[in-house]
Amino acid sequence: MSAGERVLYEAKDGIARLTVHRPEKLNALDRKTMQELDERIASARDDGAVGVLIVTGAGDKAFVAGADINELARQTPVEGAAFARLGQAVLDRLETLGKPSIAAINGFALGGGLELALACTLRLASENARLGLPEVTLGIIPGYGGTQRLSRLVGRGRALELILTGEAIDAREAHRIGLVNRILPPSELLPAAEALATMLLRRGPLALRHALQAVHAGLQMTQAEGLGLEATLFGILCSTEDMREGTRAFLEKRPPSYKGR
Ligand code: COA
Repeated sequence: MSAGERVLYEAKDGIARLTVHRPEKLNALDRKTMQELDERIASARDDGAVGVLIVTGAGDKAFVAGADINELARQTPVEGAAFARLGQAVLDRLETLGKPSIAAINGFALGGGLELALACTLRLASENARLGLPEVTLGIIPGYGGTQRLSRLVGRGRALELILTGEAIDAREAHRIGLVNRILPPSELLPAAEALATMLLRRGPLALRHALQAVHAGLQMTQAEGLGLEATLFGILCSTEDMREGTRAFLEKRPPSYKGR
């Protein structure tokens, strides 16, 4: 475990774990925490041995309780726009990393915390998680991509209900509307995230990268353009050693051993 002050980073057996570590403030994202988060995301991106990221929060109460309201309260309009742009850029880098990420939501995921989870590929929630975008209760709107990613994930009607009321929902409701993939008892959350990460590591990393690209880039396109992209990426994968290994392993009735080539 390397000791960033605000975001702990541990890479082991192909899995990088990023832990937002500011428990006395329920892991609220101040500027310094965002910068460290960005640096740790870059570390995971640049480490060829890392195939999957797990993002979680320190302690048993909060994943991340939002952007730091003390900083927000002092912002000028110019600083506010810069703040949103910085957060958006960091979360964009996480979403488009080319490696899957799993949010292990171990408590409150509010505002910027839910937006962080939304930028991850998959979301697992503990039974005590509470999720919401309370920004309107503070006289602002989500600024780290929440208005865009939430509506794309759960649909416009459900997203607008969460954004306009500012009310948090529990893990069961989040699961019902498709906001989280699974619910776990608190003690099983991280083991489940690690088991899921381990399963993803057994898949071909190039296949995962291209599947992520097809879905994310495809969502910005018309369906016809998206199908064109899918066919192109499919063709590219047919040129890889991983594709030959995967198909051969199936025919030889053995597990594949992917090299990412
Ligand atoms: N920014 C800055 N500080 C925050 C914070 C945030 N987003 N969320 C929590 N904290 C701080 C609290 O101010 C408190 O600090 P203090 O001990 O110095 O007073 C500490 O974290 C513990 O929080 P507290 O409110 O005492 O815990 P609680 O269990 O009573 O309530 C929450 C938990 C999450 C319901 C409540 O902290 C909350 O509503 N936080 C703000 C959530 C929010 O609006 N986020 C979106 C921001 S855009």
